[in-house]
Amino acid sequence: LYTYFLPEISVETHKYYVVIDTLRATSTIATALSVGAEYISVVDNPDEAFKIKEDNTLLVGERNAMKISGFDYSNSPSEILKNAAHFKDKKIVLCTTNGSKALLLANSKGITIATSLLNLKATLQYLIAKKIDDIGIICSGTDGRVSLEDVFTAGRILSVLSKQDITYFNDESYIALNMANIPHTRIMQYSTHSQKLKKIGLDKDLTMCFNESLLNVVPISKMGKNCFKSKI
Ligand code: MLT
Repeated sequence: LYTYFLPEISVETHKYYVVIDTLRATSTIATALSVGAEYISVVDNPDEAFKIKEDNTLLVGERNAMKISGFDYSNSPSEILKNAAHFKDKKIVLCTTNGSKALLLANSKGITIATSLLNLKATLQYLIAKKIDDIGIICSGTDGRVSLEDVFTAGRILSVLSKQDITYFNDESYIALNMANIPHTRIMQYSTHSQKLKKIGLDKDLTMCFNESLLNVVPISKMGKNCFKSKI
């Protein structure tokens, strides 16, 4: 099992990738599916989102943590939850700064699960039930820098997987594992991206994104399909 603290680090080939963008892309994906969105496609630039928009589609995304002009919603789990009814049976095109890149990279290489603290338990139950052990956990980071909250989420996953029959952990996996018992509130307090979201008044997203295992969804896309649907 390999953990990558950034998607920019040369990622090996694995059958499954677990992509983490705790704040906030993979939390957004889990939330949208939990309120009944049909599926989520990921793009990494807004023009592409406008291009592939069909009927019954919502454009969701951010630049500099704010809603993209012309989009329906920002990359905001709490905003999605508040407008839950609007998401039922909708196709979602998601465009974010860092999460999109990690998700697209992973999905070009293997089956991809979008994970966050929000859907941690559901993801673990899926991985364990299917006895999946060829896993690359990719943390999205922020603009090429490692993100505390992503490595923490990886650690929370690894603390459970380390009790399974998985024989190899790379060095980053052991580093992440050592963070698993730090209180969530500490990570929220110290992470750079948390502080940025707090400063611009997005406290509701912070509180929600650190609510571990609130949602029972496993957003998964077949390799190369870029179509995240829930397995639960
Ligand atoms: C990203 O993909 O860069 C993040 O999800 C940014 C954010 O909206 O907080």
